[in-house]
Amino acid sequence: MCGIIGILGSEPAAPRLLDALKRLEYRGYDSAGIATLDETGKLDRRRAPGKLKNLEAELAERPLSGNQGIGHTRWATHGSPTVGNAHPHVSAGVSVVHNGIIENFRELREELEARGHTFETETDSETIAHLIADNLKAGMSETEAVKAGLARLEGAFALAFLFEGRPDLLIGARKGSPLAIGVGEGEMYLGSDALAVAPFTNKVVYLEEGDWCVLAREAYTVFNEDGEEVDRGVTLVQGGGAMVEKGNYRHFMQKEIFEQPDSTARTIGAYVNALKQTVELPGNNGDAINWSKITSLYMIACGTAHYATRVAEYWFEQMAGLPVKTDIASEFRYREPALPKEGGLALFVSQSGETADTLAALRYCKEHGLKTAAVVNVPTSTIAREADLVLPTLAGPEIGVASTKAFTAQLSALAAVAIAAGRARDALSQDEETRLAKVLTELPRLISTTLALDEDIEALARDIAKATDVIYLGRGVHYPIALEGALKLKEISYIHAEGYASGELKHGPIALIDEETPVVFVAPYDALFDKSLSNLQEVAARRGEVILLSDSRGVKAAGDAPAHCVELPDCDAFIAPILYSVPVQLLAYHVAVEKGTDVDQPRNLAKSVTVE
Ligand code: F6R
Repeated sequence: MCGIIGILGSEPAAPRLLDALKRLEYRGYDSAGIATLDETGKLDRRRAPGKLKNLEAELAERPLSGNQGIGHTRWATHGSPTVGNAHPHVSAGVSVVHNGIIENFRELREELEARGHTFETETDSETIAHLIADNLKAGMSETEAVKAGLARLEGAFALAFLFEGRPDLLIGARKGSPLAIGVGEGEMYLGSDALAVAPFTNKVVYLEEGDWCVLAREAYTVFNEDGEEVDRGVTLVQGGGAMVEKGNYRHFMQKEIFEQPDSTARTIGAYVNALKQTVELPGNNGDAINWSKITSLYMIACGTAHYATRVAEYWFEQMAGLPVKTDIASEFRYREPALPKEGGLALFVSQSGETADTLAALRYCKEHGLKTAAVVNVPTSTIAREADLVLPTLAGPEIGVASTKAFTAQLSALAAVAIAAGRARDALSQDEETRLAKVLTELPRLISTTLALDEDIEALARDIAKATDVIYLGRGVHYPIALEGALKLKEISYIHAEGYASGELKHGPIALIDEETPVVFVAPYDALFDKSLSNLQEVAARRGEVILLSDSRGVKAAGDAPAHCVELPDCDAFIAPILYSVPVQLLAYHVAVEKGTDVDQPRNLAKSVTVE
């Protein structure tokens, strides 16, 4: 949801702001804009609707000078994605970029209008510029004006301010949306994440909830919500901007799919001691959860991360004998769940670690006395910092909006944690732990073998791209993979797709089956295969176009009922749902490419959903 960048530099800011926005574009791409102060301290801005390339063209035609500025890439909440509604917003020499939602903007706007302010946009964000300008008019300094203004804002925000006539000043603030300071050599930066400032510096100061900061080129000061000066420490961030290049791949999503042998290997390596073939939770986390005392496990997440929890639900129940409830974060706290007084563990799964609903659910659980853990990909994110225990995924930065390598890394980490829980609860023997740990370490190799099916899947995708509806079916632990397959397809190809549990087919969805509707069965040859095969035959008998994702035995058993088969390598049932994620990702990817959609930045979506 919206990316923010600010630069107080010693060389022309506009090209650097644009460059940083490219790394932030995954957060939103409805419009973009930058504002700079020129050599005389005069404020000017350029904005453009749609993708960054439009802003780039606008800047090529009407360049902006000056060494300091702010930039924004927008995911629209209030107001359509027009140039008029694009950030930065300006009022009387105050310019602001905003990520989040100001909930009381209507009241503030009425109040400011009554005091003579004229608004140009339909956004909530413009109110902030007017509010601060109003405080300046009342005689406050920039710092005082922001401090007083922040106290009036309700909702979520990350903000960066630029002031006309103040060539050595940037002010930032965060509440509910992430913001970090980048500390350079005689330069200072603000960014929604470390990625934004990665080419400029690896020294990052993460602001905490309610913090705001005042930046000059040589120094910065951080204040907490009460206005007290605080020291948030400097984090040295690993990996630079190079990590987010596409390399030889056509799209980030494709690159990320093909990175999965590495990203799962890294993640599994953090949990599995390959020498001893045991599972140890990373860091000092081994004893942080007394699994034998846990009476119920809540797993809460959104979207693809939620589907990872739906797979893990089977693992924790079967391997650790632990009662599990999974829930979508946006529903969880509003249904006022009856949480246990003791023995409850709430586990949150998030790639970004910033998803507003997941974060709110985490805070809700903490308030209700539950111990919290988070499987998270961004170690410096808010969810990682607020959870009692962090269970990292080491997928590396995921840029494609559709989650792929983060999903398989989440599954890999959850699989390892389920083994650890099973052992600690005496539900798994040491021999079983050894066997499962070994099976898990075989996953990266099997993913490599599966990726070799790319061309076959591409050929299949040309056919599926003609469909208007696609159904995905799976049983047991593969039911969530069917859900994930359908989500992946619809979000990047815009083809309507639904995932169902195969056994549910005859309770309704079978009515959808016709010659035009491809039905993708996710069905390795496991204990439930015969049942899946019956469902497959029910579809084939109704002239549905069956696509079977299975292994050698499954493909053989299915005979000529499927119209197409994709034969994956044989694997242990434990890791099958992780492996079978790969062909559904490839299928969605190639269908989208065939349809010519914007694979990495599908319409209406954003990578990090920091609003409710
Ligand atoms: C789908 C997708 C989303 C995210 C969801 C949660 O491909 O990427 O459904 O999984 O928005 O995001 P995180 O994991 O960052 O909390």
